[in-house]
Parts: sequence; structure tokens; C-alpha cells
Amino acid sequence: MIICSCAVISDRDIDRAVIEIMSAGSALLPTPGVVFRHLNKKMNCCTCAPVAVSAIYAAMDRLAADTRVCPYALAGARAKLIRIEERRLNRQRRIGAGRAAANLSAVTHRQSA
Ligand code: FES
Repeated sequence: MIICSCAVISDRDIDRAVIEIMSAGSALLPTPGVVFRHLNKKMNCCTCAPVAVSAIYAAMDRLAADTRVCPYALAGARAKLIRIEERRLNRQRRIGAGRAAANLSAVTHRQSA
């Protein structure tokens, strides 16, 4: 299945990249950016990012089930990826709250004028 139509990356490509990244013993996390760089590809529109993250998680689950990579390394990487995702969601919530406050003040300003 094609995950990224811009860079033409399949779920098999992501599986292979995650295996190679996690087996390398480096401290790299298999984020979408790291996986794309590993495949010598670049994200263009980034609409595939959520699907790429899901494919990366699925690849990590398969690796854990196959015990082809150290389970502690996988658990550590997964915990870091979850923290990164939580920070991103919190940042989006703050931006959304800021925009809502700005919209509210613009509306009240218009009504008072
Ligand atoms: S679909 Fe992946 S970068 Fe556009």
C-alpha cells in the first residue's frame, strides 16, 4: 500500500526503514522525518504524516512481536514518540485556543463599534 504519494513510499519501504533504523543501534527515533531521510526521500505536502506515523507504529509492533529488535529499545523509542506526539497535540491546542481568543476579541470589537 502506498503511504506517501508525493515521494512514492509504500508500507513495505517503511517496514524496511524502521527495521534498519532500530537495528542500527543508533539513538535515532523512527520519526517520519528520520524514516524519509533513511529512504533518501523528502516530504512534500506532509498530508501523509499521520498515516506514516501509523505505519511506523505498526512496523514497530511487528518488530516487537517478531523479537527481531531489542524490546527495550523499541519500548524506549515508542515512549519517546508518544511524548513527541503529546507535545505536538498540546502545541496545537494552545494555537487553537489563541486563535479562538483572537476571533472572540475581534467579534466583540466589531459589535462594540
Ligand atoms: S503525500 Fe507524503 S509528502 Fe505528500
